[in-house]
Amino acid sequence: MNDSCCYVRELHRGLAIKDGMEETKVVVLTGAGISAESGVRTFRDGDGLWEEHRIEDVATPQAWMADPVLVWRFYQARRRQLFDVKPNPAHEALANFAQKHSQFTLITQNVDDLHERAGNDATIHMHGRLRTLRCEQSERSEPRMDERDLGDEFLMCKCCATPQRLRPDIVWFGETPMRMDEIYSAVENCDLFIVVGSSGHVYPAAGLVNVANTAGAKTMLVNLEAPANADSFDEIHLGKAGEILPEVLGLLL
Ligand code: OAD
Repeated sequence: MNDSCCYVRELHRGLAIKDGMEETKVVVLTGAGISAESGVRTFRDGDGLWEEHRIEDVATPQAWMADPVLVWRFYQARRRQLFDVKPNPAHEALANFAQKHSQFTLITQNVDDLHERAGNDATIHMHGRLRTLRCEQSERSEPRMDERDLGDEFLMCKCCATPQRLRPDIVWFGETPMRMDEIYSAVENCDLFIVVGSSGHVYPAAGLVNVANTAGAKTMLVNLEAPANADSFDEIHLGKAGEILPEVLGLLL
């Protein structure tokens, strides 16, 4: 590990991870920071704007009701952007780790598809996905990434007898994150919980480290800067995920 780019606060609750690694249940939670080196902007950049929009104008159910055209176009632009970005060494390190370590769960707050494109097909997306769209009537999600699905016009579903309008398959502020039962079960039962690239501002994701601590797991953070919930981690590595994570995961294997 390069000490000049990170500091490590060593553990109060040491776990002999290396010795019993095959039995160690590992859960990783990623946030926007892991995709930053792929060229996807994080949410809390200095100006507090998402691609020049205020959060409340594009990422709430109220915004969708008030100005669906603006919200639709904003997410269509995010969906088109998926073709301009590719997984970076941090996504690849996690896919490699998943292949070699069966007791592994990957949870992401990200709506991009970079974990899947690196090879992690079982990624749990707690805040939804850009690649799918959701029927407003039935709430079913469908993959819609053909060229004709990426324009600025609204799209209709394929699930209802009378096709209904589709909305972005994203969890907006004020909505409940997806697959929370599965997520709590994985975190409550893990031995090692690693957070990568998250500012620790958005709950319930930011509180999962406390669930892991209560369960007696070792907790580790890889992030560019100290996040809001830094005090909750046993071990912190500050720096770029693409540089640090391959080494951290390599040491575990
Ligand atoms: P944020 O944008 O809040 O935080 C990203 C974090 O990544 C920051 O702490 C950065 O310091 C860090 N970071 C930036 N570049 C990095 C790099 N190369 N390597 C490591 N860390 C880096 O993103 P999240 O915490 O993911 O929700 O935000 C949580 C949720 O807020 C998002 O999922 C989104 C938003 O509301 C929805 O879309 C529902």
